[in-house]
Amino acid sequence: MPSSLENKILKLREQINHHNSHYYTHDNPIITDAEYDRIIQQLKQFESENPELITPDSPTQKVGGEVLAAFTKVNHEIPMLSLGNVFSSDELSDFITRLSNRLETSQELLFCVEPKLDGLAISLLYEKGVLVRAATRGDGKIGEDVTHNIKTIKNIPQLLKGKNIPETLEIRGEVVMPIAAFNSYNKKAEKKSEKGFANPRNAAAGSLRQLDSSITAKRPLAFYSYGIGLLINGTLPNSHYQRLFQLKKWGLPLSHEVERKSGIEGCTDYYQSILQKRDSLAYEIDGVVYKIDDIELQNQAGFISRAPRWATAHKFPAQEEQTILLNVEFQVGRTGAITPVALLEPVFVGGVTISRASLHNQDEIKRLGVKIGDTVVVKRAADVIPQITRTLPVKNAQQKEIIFPILCPVCESEIERIEDEAIARCSGGLYCPAQRKEAIQYFASRKAMNIDGLGEKVVELLVDEGLINNPADLFSLKTNQLIPLERMGTKKAENLINALINSKQTTLSKFLLSLGIREVGEATAKNLAEYFLTLDAVIQADTEALQDVDDVGVIVAKHVSYFFRLPHNIEVIEALIDAGVNWPVIKAKEKQSLPLAGKTYVLTGTLQQMKRNDAKASLQSLGAKVSGSVSAKTDYVVAGESAGSKLTKAQDLNIPIIDENELVTLLSSF
Ligand code: IVH
Repeated sequence: MPSSLENKILKLREQINHHNSHYYTHDNPIITDAEYDRIIQQLKQFESENPELITPDSPTQKVGGEVLAAFTKVNHEIPMLSLGNVFSSDELSDFITRLSNRLETSQELLFCVEPKLDGLAISLLYEKGVLVRAATRGDGKIGEDVTHNIKTIKNIPQLLKGKNIPETLEIRGEVVMPIAAFNSYNKKAEKKSEKGFANPRNAAAGSLRQLDSSITAKRPLAFYSYGIGLLINGTLPNSHYQRLFQLKKWGLPLSHEVERKSGIEGCTDYYQSILQKRDSLAYEIDGVVYKIDDIELQNQAGFISRAPRWATAHKFPAQEEQTILLNVEFQVGRTGAITPVALLEPVFVGGVTISRASLHNQDEIKRLGVKIGDTVVVKRAADVIPQITRTLPVKNAQQKEIIFPILCPVCESEIERIEDEAIARCSGGLYCPAQRKEAIQYFASRKAMNIDGLGEKVVELLVDEGLINNPADLFSLKTNQLIPLERMGTKKAENLINALINSKQTTLSKFLLSLGIREVGEATAKNLAEYFLTLDAVIQADTEALQDVDDVGVIVAKHVSYFFRLPHNIEVIEALIDAGVNWPVIKAKEKQSLPLAGKTYVLTGTLQQMKRNDAKASLQSLGAKVSGSVSAKTDYVVAGESAGSKLTKAQDLNIPIIDENELVTLLSSF
């Protein structure tokens, strides 16, 4: 009967083996590195306290993953080992003290210090300066032959250059996918609705373990050397640092960050300086590595099981941690954008505790495939807002779909989600408290109502003091309400009241602009005013009528019509008019003389020779109306390729149909 401790150890080993298989063999980890490190550390602790329970098959005694059957096996004559870890300066100090004791030296030890690249360990074998074989680490003794793939990596020389090249030289280093390349790869994958890589290391590993090297060739990988394996008939310097620079002279890539430092102070300085640089490096790193520089001393120190005694990795705090998505809250931004915000079980990542992270929009939720109750990975690089990067496939019985609200959580106006637009917005515009300040500022801005002295700060003050809730309230403000406000005083207050009075005399197009209707900028506001002539006509227009206006397509028409359907908005407009906002009557432009005046066209299907919008603009410039839907009022339907229901409707209603060529002839005849 195994003891409960034995049971715990067996459980941990089982867990680690399971995760090793996901990590090494399938390049698709299902937990974060930080979580993995914790499980390994726990097992190591149990084993070091109970050495009699260590078995040769314990994952602490092995290096990497299995060897995939699909690749030719490669025997590493000199095993490819792993590195021990330290996680704090105390542990680093212990490491250095242990090493000094073993080497029986009281002198400060000199270290070659290097970034710990987060990629895939690779061995490159050069015979007489020619690259003859490349292999993965595999289980440390047997790796996979990936020569065909390695040859596609641009910074790996096929031929070494320079003098005194050894007859046989095995170089070891890391293959990485640079961060920029990783991001652009994932962006492209997302566009094609394909699955991206979880992180640059998986991207490098997944790209190298391809049977078809043309796939690897398309993945921008890079190699950096960090050591030497087999050496036959050749000489190398007696310093690890100098060896790396000798490799560089022979044409092998070396990280710019390799240096030499002495003692604990030198190593800690290096750790700090690389930690600072971490986010500006081209590749991802997860720590630094300290290696005794003197090869003689390295040999004296030797190895324990799977790692050298003369080197250690000093790991950086994790930038990725896993936690649980407890709930989702919906925030309304200053422009009405509805942002889902993840409420997380608090987790310490990148040096701070995170309990909230933006989920951005509905598309992002879909991309992450995340539900409430799921285990998610939270990433936080220095100075970067925390992000949920992926959902881990941990089973949880209480998962709940994330439901987007239909009504604004602040003002209960309807939420608009226009097709093809990622962002959902509250339609409360002038009414929604979350959007109040933004709406009032926009209303007062120079190109809209042009109210002098009503900048961002004053609007903030007025809203925060509860003096105004919407643009119409501005016109009831009294000088004595303004005077006590911060940095206001009598003169400024009087000026502002005068500016408000002056602003009441405006134009219809400026007034329309000031309402802050989505997608209605200066040009559209002017077109709307010139087309409809009165505010009432704009308010009454349906989406079809709105699309008759120059530059107004389906989306803008929907925004305009939606805005005026909301009672709150109409209330504010009425209050503005009551307060005395007015504009001169606009006279209709003479359209009768234009050749297509009075005719209504509908464009449908795909046009080959011109864009739909250009065709619409040309027809309008000749006086025609261009409508979005077919009705008995339609005079002609222009049917492009693959025209659908509108064409059928036109046929049903016996409306004349012309094709694109006939349209071109028509347009060119004037
Ligand atoms: S030296 C005998 N140097 O880290 C020592 N390894 O955790 C063998 N790594 O398998 C490794 N950067 O894939 C060394 N500058 C560096 C490294 C480095 C990244 C990786 C390597 C190794 C793993 C050990």
